[in-house]
Amino acid sequence: MSELRIRSMADYRAAYQRSTTDPEGFWADVAASFHWRSPWAKVLEWDFAKADTKWFIGGRLNITENCLDRHLAERGEMTALLWEPNDPAQSSEHISYRQLHERVCRMANVLKRQGVKKGDRVCLYMPMIPELAISVLACARIGAIHSVVFGGFSANSLVDRINDSQCVLVITSDGIRRGAKSIPAKPVVDEALPSCPSVKTVLVAKCTGEAVSMRSGRDLWLEDELKQVDADCPAEPMDSEDPLFILYTSGSTGKPKGVVHTCGGYMVYAGYSFANVFQCEENDVFWCTADIGWITGHSYIVYGPLLNGVTSVMFEGVPTWPDPTRFWQVIEKHGVTQFYTAPTAIRSLMAAGHDLPSSFAMPSLKLLGSVGEPINEEAWHWYHEQVGKKRCAVVDTWWQTETGGILLSGLGSITPMKPAHAGLPLPGIRTILVDQQGNELHGEAEGYLCIDFPWPSAIRTTWGDHERCRLNYFAQYPGRYFTGDGAKRDADGFFRIIGRVDDVINVSGHRIGTAEVENAIDEHPDIVESAVVGYPHDIKGQGIYAFVICDHVRTDKDALRNEVIATVERIIGKIARPDKIQFVSGLPKTRSGKIMRRILRKVAEGEMNSLGDTSTLLDPAVVEEITSGRV
Ligand code: WT7
Repeated sequence: MSELRIRSMADYRAAYQRSTTDPEGFWADVAASFHWRSPWAKVLEWDFAKADTKWFIGGRLNITENCLDRHLAERGEMTALLWEPNDPAQSSEHISYRQLHERVCRMANVLKRQGVKKGDRVCLYMPMIPELAISVLACARIGAIHSVVFGGFSANSLVDRINDSQCVLVITSDGIRRGAKSIPAKPVVDEALPSCPSVKTVLVAKCTGEAVSMRSGRDLWLEDELKQVDADCPAEPMDSEDPLFILYTSGSTGKPKGVVHTCGGYMVYAGYSFANVFQCEENDVFWCTADIGWITGHSYIVYGPLLNGVTSVMFEGVPTWPDPTRFWQVIEKHGVTQFYTAPTAIRSLMAAGHDLPSSFAMPSLKLLGSVGEPINEEAWHWYHEQVGKKRCAVVDTWWQTETGGILLSGLGSITPMKPAHAGLPLPGIRTILVDQQGNELHGEAEGYLCIDFPWPSAIRTTWGDHERCRLNYFAQYPGRYFTGDGAKRDADGFFRIIGRVDDVINVSGHRIGTAEVENAIDEHPDIVESAVVGYPHDIKGQGIYAFVICDHVRTDKDALRNEVIATVERIIGKIARPDKIQFVSGLPKTRSGKIMRRILRKVAEGEMNSLGDTSTLLDPAVVEEITSGRV
């Protein structure tokens, strides 16, 4: 992809310019640096009014040929995946491109032997072990659609995701190691599957070694199955617009939706954005600390680095175990050159000891990346100075599950750095700001962030419900993709993301719908109603604040608080547990019965003196009770 690599500000300007005047020519050139089984007939067809986007129409390809086969001749012996285990005492694993190719083919043959076919959905509920990346690629090899569910989600969340897309097979492990703890995986699948009639087979990888029950006729040990197959598995030629994967994400309403990405466009954009944002050179060691259960892991642990023939570090553990220098140790151990993590991790490591990174010179590091939530200036400077020793570029990458790849970011050390600013749009990305009515704002402005033109890895649909996709993203401002974020643009055209403007909160970089948490809380038999908002949290970015009305019979509020937390953990998972619960006798509602979240947000933020107009409330007295009872 070298000819499309941006190496200077002039290159960036030229690429951006061309991407606006001749988008089809521009993206055709980018796409031509990949391997296609047969060329596309048309570059782009789109109609945002219908939420329709198609790229490289008629082209045929397999993304794993681009991630694996294509590299065998030149860098077959080079490390593709460098796996670092949870426990530093266990040895790391270097998997070369050749070995990865072989292991993916074997895994793909296991899937085939279980009857998995092109277009079938396969659910992956696994720890960060090599088998997860291998399973992702094995699905792609045979054209099965992977749906990775983060290992922290509950059985109930797993049921919803498996059933929504009717998965036929689940790959899991006995358990999941997380720092000093281990958490169950197979038992969660066991709890889910009685409610998931579409699942015929469960493949179980060994990870923690804990005993699990195996149901005959359904559950198989992966290691046994791998012995039954050979390593020859030709890649399935896929249409550009065939789905590659589904990834569930939360919105402001209803249950999580299955964001669908397709083979051709996603490949082109994951590869292109990786190359230009991270500016990797041959023999670089790239480390993204995300979990493959999120889009960041899909695009920048698995697909992006492998498309570019780079070594990708995959880390099973957590930043703070055995101690909060683990990241720096791993960077030195493996000579990591680009390091990509989330502001939450940065803030928690900063809090664990401002000077801790100073004992680690980390001479290999060239670039630091941030993703998932706004990075505050203090954290940005600490990252730049303490971790990067002021000699590494810092890129703040803004994007979403729906965008498939990074849309706003610095490009290596090419573009100027501005703390807390995500920066400039990548070539091909027409980010604009609009006001509430949808009028475009020009120059320095603050508004709603929209995208005015399709890009190759744009969301294609929400699984099983295209209308939901249209309503969610393309209906608010007709003719535009609406991100759900508010942003500011400065005089240099740099964007600074303010945060979500909808009822979605961002806790430690994880997207959580307030309605989902409310629904979970309301499942508790003694809860009448609840309202959930975000509030600023020093480490997590945002915390979850729940206002809860309970039945009069309950006077043991501390016990009830714990039960509410347990209910949310059971229904969604630990990542959605409320940080604060305030019991109230009423919620601030308008006469039409709508909860005035604005007031609740102010209370949660502790800004009791700026509640604004409360005269339209049905019962203004509840405000006093709520403000005086703030926890
Ligand atoms: C939401 C998307 C993109 C992968 C991880 C999250 C927020 C993401 C940034 C950033 C400020 C950011 C936005 C966005 N977000 N990156 N660099 N600066 N905010 O993916 O779970 O789909 O969440 O995360 O609010 O809409 P996601």
